[in-house]
Amino acid sequence: MKEVIIGFLGCGNVGGGVWNLLENFRKEIAHRNHLSIRVKKVLVRDVSKARSCAVPAELLTTNVEDVVSDPEISIVVEFMGGEQPATEYMLRALNAGKTVVTANKVALALNWHRLQAAAQEKNVGLYYEASVCGAIPIINVLQNSLQANRIGHMMGIINGTTNYILSRMYENGEDYKDVLGDAQRLGLAEPNPAADVEGLDAAYKLSIMASLAFHGRVPFPKVYTEGITRLTAMDISCGKEMGYVLKLLAIAKRDGNTVQVRVHPTFLPDSHPLSSVNGSFNAVYLQGHACQEMMLQGRGAGDMPTASAVVSDILRASTAEIHAHPTFSNTAEADPSLTFDDNWQCQYFLRISVEDRPGVLAKIAGWLAQENVSIAKMLQKGKADNDRVPLIIVTHAAPEKSLRKAIEAFDKDVCTVESVIRVEV
Ligand SMILES: NC(=O)c1ccc[n+]([C@@H]2O[C@H](COP(=O)([O-])OP(=O)(O)OC[C@H]3O[C@@H](n4cnc5c(N)ncnc54)[C@H](OP(=O)(O)O)[C@@H]3O)[C@@H](O)[C@H]2O)c1
Repeated sequence: MKEVIIGFLGCGNVGGGVWNLLENFRKEIAHRNHLSIRVKKVLVRDVSKARSCAVPAELLTTNVEDVVSDPEISIVVEFMGGEQPATEYMLRALNAGKTVVTANKVALALNWHRLQAAAQEKNVGLYYEASVCGAIPIINVLQNSLQANRIGHMMGIINGTTNYILSRMYENGEDYKDVLGDAQRLGLAEPNPAADVEGLDAAYKLSIMASLAFHGRVPFPKVYTEGITRLTAMDISCGKEMGYVLKLLAIAKRDGNTVQVRVHPTFLPDSHPLSSVNGSFNAVYLQGHACQEMMLQGRGAGDMPTASAVVSDILRASTAEIHAHPTFSNTAEADPSLTFDDNWQCQYFLRISVEDRPGVLAKIAGWLAQENVSIAKMLQKGKADNDRVPLIIVTHAAPEKSLRKAIEAFDKDVCTVESVIRVEV
């Protein structure tokens, strides 16, 4: 039996889950993997804090050197969160010849090139399955199982907090602010929910996934990001009436060397496989030229689902004869062979407040037609209080910039565009 001595950077939700899983899975790990994993040191901020796991007090430390400079520790497992000091601590561990396993999408998305370079220089491993979609093994699938594919299309629900909020708004017609408050009370949203609801969390993850899927670095700033904070119960109920479900989607598409990477609220037909992924679940739907369509679904967060990915990485790292690295040259900048398209084509859902008189619809159709945007579907709602009525238009696929230009031409005295939501099919 091989003994592997590891150190933790952090011991909160995920760290506690990893400790508990290593403890309660000890026999299976010994039997299946012939490994005995021993945690030697655990870095925390406050050693006196109550913890969700029974880590012995003598293992806790506030001195990072006890973890990253201990020659007995061969694997450092990071779940502190945030860009710094996590990145610097991981670099110190890698430079000291230790393999790193991390659950930290922020540090990875922003500093992947630095971490990768250090790992390759020291011939050690960098493992990050838990950084994207919790228990869903999407990193392993993209890196290994789908190597024989050109991935042309990937769409994911990769943030559980926003999926919980949107699912409740869809099911019960509730308002965004009410559901967010409930999600915070239930511990499903952070007290400061900005990273989730503004789409940043999904954008960090998409930058990692798209880099692997396209075999070229897709830096975080290249991901167009729009959150869910401006969505209304009315948008969702009108979409529902027209057969659509609203999701915060992370979308990556490739056509030749042109790619689009974007995170934004998106209407999907209610028959789409992603439409039935509800609550805090995550899912990734993708298409490769050989594998064709595929969808992976599971728990994207939580102590045990995330620990499942972290512990699997620890086991892989402990038994790997050579550590795998990405197929592309991992630099801070975007891969020079990729062209980023910010004028993607999709359908659009427009909620417009219009004057209730004859001829208005013809005018709107005319303004859209000037930019070659045509109408696919329409829904008119009953009279509103202010003599204006809501009109819903779903366009045929059109370039983003054409749609924006057409809207600029709308006469504000006749109609006001209240919402623009992209539609994917
Ligand atoms: N929570 C999830 O479901 C989930 C899912 C997937 C990925 N992740 C990722 O996993 C990471 C950890 O998430 P979490 O929910 O476990 O966070 P958490 O509960 O806040 O735990 C963070 C831990 O790191 C320690 N820590 C933070 N800053 C430190 C510093 N400067 N020096 C020493 N120790 C420090 C904290 O110490 P104290 O305990 O003493 O405060 C705590 O133990 C994040 O990158 C997150 O994005 C989380």
